[in-house]
Amino acid sequence: MPVMFQINGKIVPESEAYVPAMDRGFLFGDGVYEVIRTRGGKLFHPELHYARLTQSAQRLRIPFPWSLEELEKNIEATREAAGTGEHYVRIILTRGTGLAPNIDPAHAPSAPNIVLLVRPLELPSREQYEKGFSAWLVNTLRNHRQALDPAIKSGNYLNNIIALMEAKDHGADVALLLNSDGFLTEAPTSNVWIVKDGRTLTPPPEAGILLGITRGLLLDMARREDLPVYEEAISRETLLEADEIFLTSTLKDILAITALNGNPVGDGKPGPVTKDLARRFHQFVEPD
Ligand code: PDD
Repeated sequence: MPVMFQINGKIVPESEAYVPAMDRGFLFGDGVYEVIRTRGGKLFHPELHYARLTQSAQRLRIPFPWSLEELEKNIEATREAAGTGEHYVRIILTRGTGLAPNIDPAHAPSAPNIVLLVRPLELPSREQYEKGFSAWLVNTLRNHRQALDPAIKSGNYLNNIIALMEAKDHGADVALLLNSDGFLTEAPTSNVWIVKDGRTLTPPPEAGILLGITRGLLLDMARREDLPVYEEAISRETLLEADEIFLTSTLKDILAITALNGNPVGDGKPGPVTKDLARRFHQFVEPD
C-alpha cells in the first residue's frame, strides 16, 4: 500500500481518493498545504509545520479545525495504513466545496476539506548530492508580498511552476527567482543560500519568501555554533559572483547548486562550506 490518503477523516487508497469538482482548492487554488517528512520513523518537527499551516490558513481566513494533537493522531493513523519506513506526509486544507463556481468565499460552506497524503519518502540520490543541481536565474519574478505573499504556503503554485518551466527550457534542474526590486528570493520549492568570502547568506523575510522550516533550523544551528551565517538581501550581481550556492527544503535538507545559467559555481562541485554545513546539519537533526 505505497500511497494512502485520509479525506475528511476517512482513510482510503489512491483509487478512492477524490475531492468534489466544486472543491475551491481545485477550482481556484483556494487552500494551503504543508509537507512534513519523518526522520528515524517519527514526524520531524510537526509543531513547526502546524504553526506555519495555521498561520497560512489564518491569512486566507480558512478555519483549520484540528489541534496539533488531532493532526498528529490523524497522520499516524494514515501512516499506519501506508506501511513502515520513512514517510512523506502532505497536509492539504482547502476552503471547502463551493455551492457555485464563484470566487466569492461566501459561496463556500463552513467546512473546509482536509486531505492527508502519505507515501514513501523519496530524497535526492547520493549522486545528485555529490554532483549538485543546475539552476537558472529566470525572468519570472517571485510573487510580490503585497499580491500573493510567498510566506503563505498556498495551494496556488503557478508562480513557482511557471518559473520551473522556464528553468527547464534552459536545461536546468531548478529556477532561482528575483523579486521586483532585483533581489534574490528562493527556488520553486526550496530556500536558497549563497557563500561569499566565507560568509553564508540567505534572503531575509522582507525579500518575499516562504519561511522554510529547514531554513529556520539551519539558522538556529548556525547561531548556536556561532557560524558566520546571516539573513541578508542578495542582489543579482552578488548571486552571480557567489563562491557557493545551495538549497534547503524538507525534501532535500542541504543540496548544492553547482551550475548557474550554464556556468560552474566555484569549481562546479559542492563547495567546502556547503559540505561542512550539510555535515553539521545532519548531526544537528539526527544526533547519534
Ligand atoms: N516545499 N520555499 C518554497 C516555495 C517551498 O515550497 C518550500 C517547501 C521551501 C522550503 O521549506 P521547508 O524547509 O519548510 O520544506 C521554500 C515543500 C517541500 C514542497 O512544496 O514540496
